[in-house]
Amino acid sequence: MDSRKSFIAGNWKMFKTCPEAVKTAGQLVKLVAGTNDIDIMIAPPFTALSSVCDAIKDSNVSLGAQNLFWENEGAYTGEVSPGMLVSAGCRYVIIGHSERRQYFGETDDTVNKKIAAAIQHQLIPVFCVGETEKERESKETLSVLDKQVKKGLINLFADKLENLVVAYEPVWAIGTGKTATKEQAQEAHQFLRSLLETSFGNSFARSIRILYGGSVKPGNIKELMAMPDVDGALVGGASLDAETFSQIVNYRE
Ligand code: PGA
Repeated sequence: MDSRKSFIAGNWKMFKTCPEAVKTAGQLVKLVAGTNDIDIMIAPPFTALSSVCDAIKDSNVSLGAQNLFWENEGAYTGEVSPGMLVSAGCRYVIIGHSERRQYFGETDDTVNKKIAAAIQHQLIPVFCVGETEKERESKETLSVLDKQVKKGLINLFADKLENLVVAYEPVWAIGTGKTATKEQAQEAHQFLRSLLETSFGNSFARSIRILYGGSVKPGNIKELMAMPDVDGALVGGASLDAETFSQIVNYRE
């Protein structure tokens, strides 16, 4: 029996000013207090990290960032380094989200550099992969995932990746209201685990958490979580409201 701790993560994207972020974080802390058998993370925009860190202090909610740059410091206007995220209180960092790949030139190569940099600074990468609608229609889903995982994790070794979190986020399901069926999610997650097994071995693959992302809501979380290879969720829109997100976290109630 595999014993992967469930993980529910909220990606706030480019939403919420500092005061708004602090307010939502404070509400969430109260709503999920006592849920200790599930890891909980919220990823506010960079500008709110530090204040949200204070708002969730001593709670069971952890802080994540939505992106990083791989250099420690330097003349890279507009970028944020792993060390800066650590100093702002981050434990996790989302890497390779499809919106970054689509709008900001993120490639498998930059994703790989970012994962390596995150690990070096003891930040836990939440590594996002997923196919577009066109790729799914032309039956390329598994080959796309294969390429994203192999290139994203190239030159990285199991002993350094033990905390890695993978997020399967079909691009066609993000923000669209179209969720993958539980069977589609399970098929992709099982395949992702088999890729991890080929590269890093069986016990590694069985220990890594694979989250599903794409229109997760209080109404569909339970059936997704019932699938054997779905270990949690990366939630966008439905994480912006503390009450709704807490219903996803507490989906068993
Ligand atoms: P969504 O976004 O829940 O709004 O579909 C998920 C994500 O982009 O992580």
